[in-house]
Amino acid sequence: MELNPLFNLDAIPARPEPTGLLYGEDVLSVAQFDRDKIDYIFTRANEMREMVKRVGKFDLIPDKVAACIFYEPSTRTSSSFIAAMQRLGGSVIPITSGVSFSSVSKGETLGDTMRVLEQYADVVVLRHPEVGAAKEAASAASVPVINAGDGPGEHPTQALLDLFTIQDELGQIDGLKIAMLGDLRYGRTVHSLTKLLLQYDVQLRYVSPEVLRLPMNLMNRVIDSGRNVRETYSLADVIRDVDVLYVTRVQKERFSDLSQYEQVKNFYEITPEVMEEAKEKMIVMHPLPRVGEIPESLDSDPRAAYFRQAQNGMYVRMALLAGVLGRA
Ligand code: NCD
Repeated sequence: MELNPLFNLDAIPARPEPTGLLYGEDVLSVAQFDRDKIDYIFTRANEMREMVKRVGKFDLIPDKVAACIFYEPSTRTSSSFIAAMQRLGGSVIPITSGVSFSSVSKGETLGDTMRVLEQYADVVVLRHPEVGAAKEAASAASVPVINAGDGPGEHPTQALLDLFTIQDELGQIDGLKIAMLGDLRYGRTVHSLTKLLLQYDVQLRYVSPEVLRLPMNLMNRVIDSGRNVRETYSLADVIRDVDVLYVTRVQKERFSDLSQYEQVKNFYEITPEVMEEAKEKMIVMHPLPRVGEIPESLDSDPRAAYFRQAQNGMYVRMALLAGVLGRA
């Protein structure tokens, strides 16, 4: 077919050949990341941070479009993926609110939604309330699918940014004592981070009320890994000697019995008084949103790392997007 002569292709640089360890991959579970891949992502994420600090935005993927479809509410995750695309010079189809107004509410299958979105976009970022939805979407889509949370299942990009934050803040992961606190039952970030941490030589502490304990199958994996691990409901048991305190909110939306939620919703609060007991060199993390577990009065404590953690999310997602699109 003859092109319109106004399309002067000779003046447009050819697209580079796709390269890199992640090219074409879906990001569905932390199980797909070994330490080599994790190191690779961290190196790329550090480069992204450096570039953003120097120039703010740069055209690494100006020819790429991401569809971000969120069937569950999200502020941080969706906006950090959008920001990541934009800082890389790419564009976004944001389907982040009012999904109920789209075809989804007309009963379209997830597979069909993917088969349509891949006609428009080079990568799909998906959040869905059901465990396994990202995997199902990926098997329908020919473009990479990134799991931005599948119900109480996994949240692999969050776990990578959490791990990146630990490395960045404390300079190491091996040798640390890491406590996770709050809703260990439904908190998918805890599930994904736990699985990632099993590749490192860490001690793990799980702090929760009885009804919110880590699921048995996951706890068994931790035990089988030979890691030094303890469960307790008492924050006082761990606060003095942990290097990382990873706090989570109680996931109200996952309770079938709301009276049970009411009983556990305010179980822990990490106040400045509590933090007086903690080590001087340690960090408090939280995937956010917080709903009372951490008062604002803690924010000025240099150990409060949760906003830096959110910022790291953008760099790690830039690394992942550039990676699966073959420009890392
Ligand atoms: C987490 C999530 O969605 O699982 N938030 C996030 O991704 N920033 C944690 C939560 O909702 O509690």
